[in-house]
Amino acid sequence: MKRLLVRGVFLLAAALPSFAHAAFTPSPIPPYAHGVVVSASPLASDAGIEIMKAGGNAIDGAVATAFALAVVYPEAGALGGGGFAVVHREGVGDLAFDFREVAPTAAYTAMFLDSTGTPDPKLSLESCRAAAVPGGVDGLLRLWQQQGSGQISRRALLAPAIRLARDGFRLPVDVAQDLNEHRAAFARSEAATRIFVRADHAEWKAGDLLVQTDLANTLDRIAAEGRAGFYLGQTAELIRATMLRGGGLISLDDLDEYHAELRAPLRGSFRGREIVVMPPPSSGGILLLQMLAMLERFPLDRVARDRVEWPHLFTEVARRAYADRAVHLGDPAFAVVPEHGLLEPRYVEARAASISLTRATPSDSVAAGDAEHYESDQTTHLSVLDAAGNAVALTATLNDTFGSGIVVEGAGFLLNNEMDDFSAKPGTTNLYGLTGGQANRIEPKKRPLSSMTPTLVLRDGKVEMALGSPGGPRIITSVLQVLIDCLVREVPLGTAVATPRIHAQWQPDLLYYEEGALTDSTIARLGGMGHEVVPYANRWIGRVNGATREDGGLIGSPDPRGGNAARGF
Ligand code: DON
Repeated sequence: MKRLLVRGVFLLAAALPSFAHAAFTPSPIPPYAHGVVVSASPLASDAGIEIMKAGGNAIDGAVATAFALAVVYPEAGALGGGGFAVVHREGVGDLAFDFREVAPTAAYTAMFLDSTGTPDPKLSLESCRAAAVPGGVDGLLRLWQQQGSGQISRRALLAPAIRLARDGFRLPVDVAQDLNEHRAAFARSEAATRIFVRADHAEWKAGDLLVQTDLANTLDRIAAEGRAGFYLGQTAELIRATMLRGGGLISLDDLDEYHAELRAPLRGSFRGREIVVMPPPSSGGILLLQMLAMLERFPLDRVARDRVEWPHLFTEVARRAYADRAVHLGDPAFAVVPEHGLLEPRYVEARAASISLTRATPSDSVAAGDAEHYESDQTTHLSVLDAAGNAVALTATLNDTFGSGIVVEGAGFLLNNEMDDFSAKPGTTNLYGLTGGQANRIEPKKRPLSSMTPTLVLRDGKVEMALGSPGGPRIITSVLQVLIDCLVREVPLGTAVATPRIHAQWQPDLLYYEEGALTDSTIARLGGMGHEVVPYANRWIGRVNGATREDGGLIGSPDPRGGNAARGF
């Protein structure tokens, strides 16, 4: 019966021409012989290449790029936040670095509820309490120490970032625009206003110089003292002072006790490749592998991206995976996460079997949220490959654009508002319209569940591709679509990254599309199948920065959405 239906649907599809077009143009980038860095900023990509040219490997390059991003991409800079990196080190293997923030010891489950028991997003997003203990510095330094080449000193590693902070850098148009759009957030702290609002209160323009002296001094202390330059001494005291003034919960002990975790990555297979991803507390890895496995049960080769079958199947698969996310996923140190069960072939088969090829399955109407109303794009992903075969896919975030908007007075960096990634109250939604359950409730020292999905694709044990994206829940579906394009439809990565995308996540029960992703006739047919299809009103669905190793060399594929840039040598 199923096969007949499949055939019926695909025969119909073959009769429909495709009109969708690529709304973004990939820039052709030459292959490089020695190394390639793709990040959200040309200046940060340059920093990574500078370090690789000085003898560093892909890991050194990635860490230098991430520190530089903390200066030139304050929207998501890693000092006051955290992230994940999936790393391939030739001769060592695949590693997953978790430098996600943790809840302070004084955090408690009801900390964001008002007197009526309702979650207050102002508290979980815009206050000092929104900040979890930052993990970026510990994670990046561990990455460099454990998997770097050993050729790059800590001072050299941080030199480009310190230079960019102390001498200043010319604002690119995207950062100038973000700073102007978020002026209200900077009003939350004097230090943020001093640094991120122009002294004459005029709008920032592309080409304006942004100097960050306090940040340069913080980076200097990290260069001199390592993790102690951030988690102890002056920087720690400055964080504590900001917490005391603003009613935040991070203590000196919380800072001292923060440690990144080295985890075993999750692995799946798809189209003759190994897909290597983050385990929990990322939901991205499990969901990506689960969705790929469900999709494999359908004749994907015959599903063109812009025909009705693809957005339908995609939405059905995403709906099931994100419903699992809401209930089952959280920090594995606190919640029982059925990692293996969620990826077990019989489970995946059973989930996929409930997909009708002709009708949308309505998502439960529990606590539907408005994900796009609260758009923010400021997480950042970088991908680095080197000639020796090493690779890094690293995603870092403050959560919302410029995090909580609160700068640590005297230390010059923005604090995250990652506490909002917890479920403030089971069954209610967060910034991204994601529903959370008990597994992701707030507990002291717990890591909030994340959607970040840094991903490596290996073939015969060698890295073929590194990729990842910002975009909250849209990260996972963005990576999924690029992988399907590259591995099933054999589209070059640059083209796949530039192609307009769609997104669905169980709740709200909507299928979003970027302009050009779906034709009018496809949208009408999806409507007839029971899908509610809506244009994605905000800027972008994901921004995938990827890199591939091909016969001709190393190729960077920055997303044309925004100011991303590939550099190489
Ligand atoms: O870890 C997460 O899933 C979120 N804090 C990521 C936020 C993000 O990607 C912001 N950009 N839209």
